[in-house]
Amino acid sequence: MPTHDLYADEPGPSPWQVPASGAARFSWEYDDGRDRLLALYQKGKDKQWDGMQRIDWDLEVDPYDALGTPEEAMSLYGTRYWDKLTDKDKGELRRHYASWQFSQFLHGEQGAMICAARIVESVPDLDAKFYSATQTMDEARHAEIYGRFLHEKIGLLYPINDNLQSLLGDTLRDSRWDMPYLGMQVLIEGLALAAFGMIRDTTNKPLPKQILTYVMQDEARHVAFGRLALRDYYKQLTDAELREREEFVIEGCYLMRDRLRGVEVLENFGIPKAEAEALSERSEFLQLFRRLLFSRIVPCVKDIGLWGKRLQQAYVDMGVFEMGDSSLDLLMAQDEELAEQLDAERFAAEEHERIAEVRDAIEAGAAES
Ligand SMILES: [Fe+2]
Ligand SMILES: [Fe+2]
Repeated sequence: MPTHDLYADEPGPSPWQVPASGAARFSWEYDDGRDRLLALYQKGKDKQWDGMQRIDWDLEVDPYDALGTPEEAMSLYGTRYWDKLTDKDKGELRRHYASWQFSQFLHGEQGAMICAARIVESVPDLDAKFYSATQTMDEARHAEIYGRFLHEKIGLLYPINDNLQSLLGDTLRDSRWDMPYLGMQVLIEGLALAAFGMIRDTTNKPLPKQILTYVMQDEARHVAFGRLALRDYYKQLTDAELREREEFVIEGCYLMRDRLRGVEVLENFGIPKAEAEALSERSEFLQLFRRLLFSRIVPCVKDIGLWGKRLQQAYVDMGVFEMGDSSLDLLMAQDEELAEQLDAERFAAEEHERIAEVRDAIEAGAAES
């Protein structure tokens, strides 16, 4: 079915056109790659996988409870609106939230694919172009998977959130080659990764868990790439140039924190926008979610050398400053491990079934003779 027929709200004009600026850069040096970047490129090639095969699409999903979200975690919970909802309404609300959340993932993945392709075009060094070409493919696979999940299992999509779209636009319009890295690899991917992780670790539904676990295995490489490339480059920038990047990060962080919270869903349930915003603001769960959203960005920003006074102050104000000390390497190693564990468990279960089948066949054969 055309996606257009499944949108809860009217999406903007398609295609959305963002004018490109800046140069396409060729390198004639083919034998001067940085070892760590080339190793990451190799890993990117080795670890490609196909969502058609690796994901068990036969698993059923109840669209009215796709993630097993507890009532207390719904932003309307405990408000006068909640008491008026029937069980059917509550199911519908869950469906809209899951749709909104995964639709932002989907649009974000398309954005990531386009930014990765932009990096292939504009970054000066060939090792980074090679790596980013593998990432472009990774993001295409992710967009494919989220799109399929939404079409087949939820049956409802939301347009891209206005503020996410404007951050994406700012990231792509900028002619400096490091800006797609900073806007996409650090900010948007950092937020997405934290959101994926929270759902992966709390959902009790097997299909979304599989999808998120495997997607996160790839994302761990993407974050590593942004860090490697920017850490090298930012060492060469002047203080003034670094401050400009920090301003961009500060603004993007506030925007995503304050404006990316699914108010569109509540509006579709007849709650006026101002009240929907106030209700979301009051939700304890959302407050926690918001803080956790920064768990991947803050240590990354610090690591690449954007750690000036104004940025530090902004993170103190947001209550996330101390996250700068958490270990990204550890988090990423865990993301990769979880995917491997899941494969091992699924493989062991299949093996078990196969052995049982063989045993049954032997027993049946023995009984006949
Ligand atoms: Fe992705
Ligand atoms: Fe990514």
